[in-house]
Amino acid sequence: MTILALETSCDETAVAILRCRNGHSGSELLASEVASQTAEHEKFGGVVPEVASRNHLVHAPRLLERVARQAKVEISQIDAFAATSGPGLASSLMIGASIAKGLAIGFGKPYLAINHLEGHLLSPFFGEAKIKANVSLVVSGGHTMSILVRAVGDYKIIGRTVDDAAGEGFDKIAKLLGLGYPGGPEIEKRAANGDPKRFDLPRSMPDSENFSFSGLKTAVRYLLPKLGVIPNPATRDEGSHSRSLDSRGLLRDQSANERSTRSPRRPRDDKLLNDLCSSVQAAIVDVLVRKTIAAAKKHDVDLVTVSGGVSCNRELRKQLGEACKRHGFEFKTAEPWLCTDNAAMIAFAAMLKLKNDVSSSVTQEIDPNLALAI
Ligand code: KG4
Ligand code: ZN
Repeated sequence: MTILALETSCDETAVAILRCRNGHSGSELLASEVASQTAEHEKFGGVVPEVASRNHLVHAPRLLERVARQAKVEISQIDAFAATSGPGLASSLMIGASIAKGLAIGFGKPYLAINHLEGHLLSPFFGEAKIKANVSLVVSGGHTMSILVRAVGDYKIIGRTVDDAAGEGFDKIAKLLGLGYPGGPEIEKRAANGDPKRFDLPRSMPDSENFSFSGLKTAVRYLLPKLGVIPNPATRDEGSHSRSLDSRGLLRDQSANERSTRSPRRPRDDKLLNDLCSSVQAAIVDVLVRKTIAAAKKHDVDLVTVSGGVSCNRELRKQLGEACKRHGFEFKTAEPWLCTDNAAMIAFAAMLKLKNDVSSSVTQEIDPNLALAI
């Protein structure tokens, strides 16, 4: 069984081919390619949906050819076609889903519409045949969720962010500090040489199963002028508004107060910047670890998993791994290349569904707000 999957939920175009190993029940990745558009969107300060979808149209056919060549398979030999059907940007999702549906119809093969978050949450099991019940922390640029995973397709949301996602927090704070996009890796780099205890930053909603990261961003915003490194946003004209793009590429109103956070003024003091990054990372990691362990205890599982772009963060992996060990949980995460957006995780989720005889109708629409579970 060979599956081809496309992932075009935001600004990454990704295509992968996965095969069930002969004589094994696991799967083997034959090819996986990701074309990033980060550079094209950076100048706009966020993802521009129109630009993203046009780029998917350019990249997808090239990547299809490339993965087929690498995998040494003809597209006609593929047994099923899958694509991310949500959540994400409508105009981007449409490209990948339309290509997968077209190929499925053209070659008379099954089509699978895959939830992007399901791709992330199953990725720690990549290549394996079976999923073990677990509490899964999915931390990406658009989502922060803890989920009780009972089996493939059987999910219960335990907690989710009430405002910014963890990755969004990293990205917005990096912007405040004048660092590049995406902010997570930039903050992690600086944090490695900083003091995580220098600034006592807020850990919001400590007694809730939900998450909140916008208070941390606000705390950093108001700390910077006090440190004398960035103009005080409170002294700016708060009345005027402009239209801008948020980190997920959506147009929204923006006050002058918020606009001031977009001016990339990097604090000149390297030690200060490193300590700030380290304190920010510590605050985010601390909350994620504490809430995930509490959820695992409450739901009586043996296994904790973490996935999504933020799970590339070495401090998060280390601290969550250590906390799991202390509390007697097994801990599983995907390799870093599988944590950020890719099509291999979509192909893997599709493979597990096909094994359960689940496929989708080609009339199934994309859904920008597709829910994982209630
Ligand atoms: O899963 P992903 O590639 O895309 C979405 O589905 O959103 O996640 C992207 C997010 C970005 O916010 C980025 O800053 C964050 O993952 N990220 C990191 C690291 N690498 C990527 N955050 C913290 N530390 C990292 N090393
Ligand atoms: Zn993602």
